[in-house]
Amino acid sequence: MTSTEQGRRKYDELADKYEEIFPYVVDVGRLLVEHAAPAAGARVLDVGAGRGAVARAALAHGCDVTAVDASAGMVARLAMDFPDAVARQMDAGALDFPDGSFDLVAAGFVVQVLPDPDVALAEFRRVLAPGGKLALSLEKQTVGRLRWLFELAGEFFGAPVPGDDEESTGAMTGRQLDALIERAGFTDLATDTVEMPVPLADPAALWDWLTPRGLTDAVRALPAEQAEQFHVRFLAGAEHMQANGGISLDFRATLHVARRP
Ligand SMILES: C[S@@+](CC[C@H](N)C(=O)[O-])C[C@H]1O[C@@H](n2cnc3c(N)ncnc32)[C@H](O)[C@@H]1O
Repeated sequence: MTSTEQGRRKYDELADKYEEIFPYVVDVGRLLVEHAAPAAGARVLDVGAGRGAVARAALAHGCDVTAVDASAGMVARLAMDFPDAVARQMDAGALDFPDGSFDLVAAGFVVQVLPDPDVALAEFRRVLAPGGKLALSLEKQTVGRLRWLFELAGEFFGAPVPGDDEESTGAMTGRQLDALIERAGFTDLATDTVEMPVPLADPAALWDWLTPRGLTDAVRALPAEQAEQFHVRFLAGAEHMQANGGISLDFRATLHVARRP
């Protein structure tokens, strides 16, 4: 299976519970659209739309919305939940639209999961009309109270444990995303940070939270005995966190809005 197919399958599995596990995406989608401020009637493309956090907000602004996603499961939900939008299965790196088709291209929490973000950014630019806007969001989770988990992952997978002051523990930092946007030829870049503390109900909810971040796949790839050991130690760490003030993550998102010249 290729990594793209694995990614698609992961999001297919998540489709029916995605916004229940990650409720903050709805607020970030709304804020992203507010920052981009499309006019009513603007043609908006939501790439990697998931369950429609951005599409929902753009529809509320009276926009003409097209939502695309690589996952068939997500597209089926988009078509069912947003009959006023066009929903299509499509790869962010090969958009099946003519040049200059949209006034706003938005992608919430997507660019960092793509195998080749430069190719996708070039596509976003191509399908935007001159003067159109790009709006991207990125998660920015610091180590904080999850230090024990990074240390556990370091022990099992040899992954480096990030410092407390590192900008991001994710696959891409805000500065890297800004550089990518500028390299793709966008101008008037403005970046903002929003705070989104995430309270999680129990250790199982923390496990679900980590699923799209690659941890579950990495654990599945371990020999059975080690996978079991990891899971036992994970639950002990999460239960300890719950007993000491609850499982609450210091989560932030960055919003990046730029213009196609
Ligand atoms: C983290 S989710 C974000 C969903 C949504 N934008 C939000 O803000 O809630 C990433 C989404 O990107 C989609 N995706 C991943 N790779 C993709 C690709 N190459 N092309 C299009 N969509 C992709 C996934 O299926 C998933 O729905």
